[in-house]
Amino acid sequence: PTEVAVNGNAGGCPIDHAALARAQGCPVSAPAAEFDPFGDGYQQDPPEYVRWARDKEPVFYSPKLGYWVVTRYDDIKAVFRDNHTFSPSIALEKITPTGPEANAVLASYGYAMNRTLVNEDEPAHMPRRRALMDPFTPEALKHHEPMVRRLTREYVDRFIDDGRADLVDQMLWEVPLTVALHFLGVPEEDMDRLRAYSIAHTVNTWGRPKPEEQVAVAHAVGNFWQLAGSILDKMRQDPDAPGWMQYGIRKQQELPDVVTDSYLHSMMMAGIVAAHETTANASANAIKLLLQHPDAWRELCEDPGLLPNAVEECLRHNGSVAAWRRLATRDTEIAGVAIPAGARLLIVSSSANHDERHFTDADFFDIRRENASDQLTFGYGAHQCMGKNLARMEMQIFLEELTRRLPHLRLAEQQFTYVPNTSFRGPEHLWVEWDPADNPERRDSALLSQRQPVRIGEPSTHAISRKLRVASVTRAADGIARIRLESPDGKPLPRWTPGSHIDIECGDTGLSRQYSLCGDPAAPGTLEIAVLREAQGRGGSAWIHEHVRPGGILRARGPRNHFRMDESAASLVFIAGGIGITPISAMARRARELGMDYQLHYSGRTRGCMALLDELAQLHGERLHLHISDEGGRNDFAALLGRPTPGAQVYACGPERMLAALQQACAGWPEDSLRVEHFHSTLATLDPSREHAFEAELKDSGIVVQVPAGQTLLAALRGANIDVQSDCEEGLCGSCEVRVLGGAVDHRDVVLTRNERAAGNRMMACCSRAQGGRIVLEL
Ligand code: HEM
Repeated sequence: PTEVAVNGNAGGCPIDHAALARAQGCPVSAPAAEFDPFGDGYQQDPPEYVRWARDKEPVFYSPKLGYWVVTRYDDIKAVFRDNHTFSPSIALEKITPTGPEANAVLASYGYAMNRTLVNEDEPAHMPRRRALMDPFTPEALKHHEPMVRRLTREYVDRFIDDGRADLVDQMLWEVPLTVALHFLGVPEEDMDRLRAYSIAHTVNTWGRPKPEEQVAVAHAVGNFWQLAGSILDKMRQDPDAPGWMQYGIRKQQELPDVVTDSYLHSMMMAGIVAAHETTANASANAIKLLLQHPDAWRELCEDPGLLPNAVEECLRHNGSVAAWRRLATRDTEIAGVAIPAGARLLIVSSSANHDERHFTDADFFDIRRENASDQLTFGYGAHQCMGKNLARMEMQIFLEELTRRLPHLRLAEQQFTYVPNTSFRGPEHLWVEWDPADNPERRDSALLSQRQPVRIGEPSTHAISRKLRVASVTRAADGIARIRLESPDGKPLPRWTPGSHIDIECGDTGLSRQYSLCGDPAAPGTLEIAVLREAQGRGGSAWIHEHVRPGGILRARGPRNHFRMDESAASLVFIAGGIGITPISAMARRARELGMDYQLHYSGRTRGCMALLDELAQLHGERLHLHISDEGGRNDFAALLGRPTPGAQVYACGPERMLAALQQACAGWPEDSLRVEHFHSTLATLDPSREHAFEAELKDSGIVVQVPAGQTLLAALRGANIDVQSDCEEGLCGSCEVRVLGGAVDHRDVVLTRNERAAGNRMMACCSRAQGGRIVLEL
């Protein structure tokens, strides 16, 4: 590997300001000239401090720092994606060059910190990352869960009866440090020494120590370097011991040019910091944030199922890595701003995480946010944090133990302080209080044996449920109950659009069922569904009919919409069969409100078994056409749809037989005119005996993932530590869409239209596969 680049540029702008200023005024705006990441503004709240830039000048040059600063989500992701143009070589470089005295001190310790992974360029980086990845796979990480849980319990035991604690000093610093040491394979060394060393390392790398501090920092860093060397020597004597470093030592036998001595020594030191401080800070930020939002804290206490997504939202809203660095290797452009070769970039990932263009209502802290896992706190692409799933596991366990054992925790009065630096962020102390007399385990010791299964990997939106109170249950037709639901605490419910559904959890039966919303989307605070008791069903509808009573509490997920109405269509034909009227009724109501041209066809066996009849007749008058079979009525699709109407869209929901007949009747219509609601799909069922294995090349991550015949692409991606969101995992919802850059796709979902399938540039990872032996994905 080449030498680490020397920072000769700080403060020196590559632009000739004088010339530019003469020609057209100085190109550095006033706020850009003021930008100072070591000042109080950035230290207290980095994304807020650069809000002006996100809004007005997303890429700017900071003369004080000597860096170009990038603030928007898409730009930062694009920089992470291209690690050839934007080299990570300066990621661990001292952001403030030290003076000759400190440099001499470092040299006296033989300090030779070099490339590890995070600051290694291609082509050296990828082979090394691949060689060292196995201990990070979800499969391997499972084995660490009992250790993390045991440590967390022991530390909480120590202060649970005290009523007051500094969580950083008494838990959040040492537990991630001990986990990091276990993971790396380090025998438990002197914690206080390592603790002092790692702070020094942060200040040395990302801080601005005063000249008189520099020497002390250099001694600590030099000692850290030597300690790392001696630990490594010990490890070499027992290379079969468990641990990621020992794994590296064994790999060195096989691949000496890939896993070098310099790498091992540098990683021994950098690895402790990478695994420890990031996680300690992230956990402190998360607990602080949750205690500042007591409603969210209470919800987690009541429903630990929300933990994985809450962790993700904490990492988004207030993660522990505020900014990261890259070096431009050639003249290029970011968001239209010319970036010269050699330019240093500060990519403010915490600002990306608050970018309205990617996260709706981005400053709002929402533990149910569906795209929280798009956060860039772990970076993205070829260098994305390898330890992200270990960190997520630790944070879930910390929060689970604290919410269960100390639900009455509150923040104490205090001023938060941060170690001044650009990148690693977390409060130095976090004082909390509670009344030990109220500790729930004093009344119920069984509480101590409870545990929530940890989710290894990015959270599933599937797990994000909310409580709803049953406001009323009325009879809508024979065997159909109409259920009105409201928020139990009077807070607003999410807005929904026609075609949306919610997933109702049927008590503790393990069943959950999807029901379309049929009320008025404009009515705030309520959700309405109509449920047909299905004699031949799998038991969900029977449970609802038997157990749902006014005043009761249900758990539900959503609303989500997989069946959106095109409000720009020239005209609309709505076709409902039986209980399929529920989404269609909401769409027809909307079409009426918008003054659109529409007709509504509703078929049923008998009048008595058709829901919402009076309401529909009242709202839609002559536009409503009923087809009731025992009154001799029948919806003649051939007559209705025989000739395509230009610009018309047909929306249908009902029995599979009806939908199949409609497909036929619409055969002559333009592509994608017929839109149907599916609640089940059999296309996604995987039959290994009829599938073939294939390879998925991931362009952004630089790896190739093998997908065996018996595994979905989604599962294979997760097994390789790649985050992909998912929800239904049946090809119905579209959450797991990934972009396809090459190779033909065998589509198995019901989300994409025929034209979209033919374009071949996206696919649903939960069910669709490669037609041939390989596909290339933008992941
Ligand atoms: C890389 C953040 C925990 C090991 C990174 C990067 C970031 C990051 C920003 C650089 C990403 C990029 O350049 O695209 C975090 C945060 C953590 C955390 C916020 C906790 C909340 C951990 C843990 C470990 C770890 C627990 C180890 C057990 C690594 C490694 C890399 C890395 C080895 C280098 C990957 C490469 O360059 O290929 N991390 N990290 N991290 N992290 Fe983490």
